[in-house]
Amino acid sequence: MRTIDWDQKKNCVTIIDQTLLPEKLALLEIRDLQSLIEAIITLRVRGAPALGAAGGYGVALIARNIKAKDVPGFVKQLRAEALKLKNARPTAVNLSWGVERVLDRALDADNVQDIRNIALEEAKMLAEDDVQRCREIGMHGAELLKDGDTVLTHCNAGRLACVDWGTALGVIRSAVEAGKNIKVISCETRPLNQGSRLTAWELAEDKIPVTLIADDMAGYVMRKKLVDAVIVGADRIVEDAVFNKIGTYTHSVLAKAHGIPFYVAAPLSTFDFRRKEADVVIEERDPDELRKCGSRMLAPAGVPVLNPAFDATPMENVTALITEEGVFRPPFDFKAIEKLKM
Ligand code: MRU
Repeated sequence: MRTIDWDQKKNCVTIIDQTLLPEKLALLEIRDLQSLIEAIITLRVRGAPALGAAGGYGVALIARNIKAKDVPGFVKQLRAEALKLKNARPTAVNLSWGVERVLDRALDADNVQDIRNIALEEAKMLAEDDVQRCREIGMHGAELLKDGDTVLTHCNAGRLACVDWGTALGVIRSAVEAGKNIKVISCETRPLNQGSRLTAWELAEDKIPVTLIADDMAGYVMRKKLVDAVIVGADRIVEDAVFNKIGTYTHSVLAKAHGIPFYVAAPLSTFDFRRKEADVVIEERDPDELRKCGSRMLAPAGVPVLNPAFDATPMENVTALITEEGVFRPPFDFKAIEKLKM
C-alpha cells in the first residue's frame, strides 16, 4: 500500500491517513482540492517527498474538477487553485516543486482535455520517480553503515513520508536488505510524535529492531556510546542549512559534540538552490498541539506557546548529504549539485 496513490477505478487520490496510525491503517479517498488541503494541513499526508506527490496529484485533481471549457479560463482557474495548494504548508519545498512540475508539463497542451490527461500522467510519473529516487538514496546511503550499527533518527523520513521506501529509513532499509544488522533509535518527536507513531510503527512492521526514546534522551544515548550515526530527512536544503523537523538541530549539535556522523538523506527535489536560511519560512503550528493531548490538558489553558514545526541545521554540522546522485561531503558544491537536478 503506497502512502499516496491514484485509484484508477475510482478516479481519486488515495492516502494513508497518518493521523490514525499506529492504531489503524486506513486509506482516505480524496476527490477535491479542499479535502487535499485539509489533509495536508492536518498531516494526514505529510513528509517532504509525499507532499511533492500530493502537489502533483493535486494539480491533476484540480484539472479534473474545473468546468470551464475555454483554455484561457481553464488555465486561469487552474493556476489560482494550484497557488492555494502550494501555500497549504510553507516549509517543505517539495510541495510547490510537485505543483510546478505538473503544471509546467500540462500547460504545454493546447486543449482542456489534454491538460487534464497530461497532468495526471505527469503526477503518476512524479510518484514513480520518487520511489526510484528513494531506492537510489538507500543504495548510496547503505554504504555508510556497517554491520551492527545503531542509527538514531528523528521524526519520520520513512515510506510514510514518501511514496514508498523512504529517505533516512530508506537508507536503513537498504542496509538491512544488503544483509547488515542495523538497529534504530527513534526519537519520539514532540509535539506530534511522528517518531513514535510512524517511524516506530514502520520499522516494527518491517521487523527492523527499533527502540523508542523521548527527544530529551538523545544526549544520554550518545554519551553512553549507543549511537553510531544519526540519519534524518529534510524538508528543504538551502546553501547554508538543512530544514527538518523541530529538534533536528539539537541532534546535530549533540552528534558533533560526541563525534558521531550526522547524515541528511533527501532527493534533489528537496534542494532549494536559490534560497538561504534567512529566506525560508518556518511553519508555526497551533499552540494546542503543545497544550493538549486529545481532550486532556497538558498545560494551563492559554499559556503562551512557541510551536515552530521545523528548525535549521547549519551546514557545518552536516557530515554528508545522501542523495539519489550519490553522497556529498563538505565543502558542499551547490553549483555542481544543482547541475545534477536539471
Ligand atoms: O511536519 P512533518 O511531519 O511533515 O515533517 C516531516 C519531516 O520533518 C521529515 O523529516 C521530512 O519531511 C523528511 S521526509 C523524508
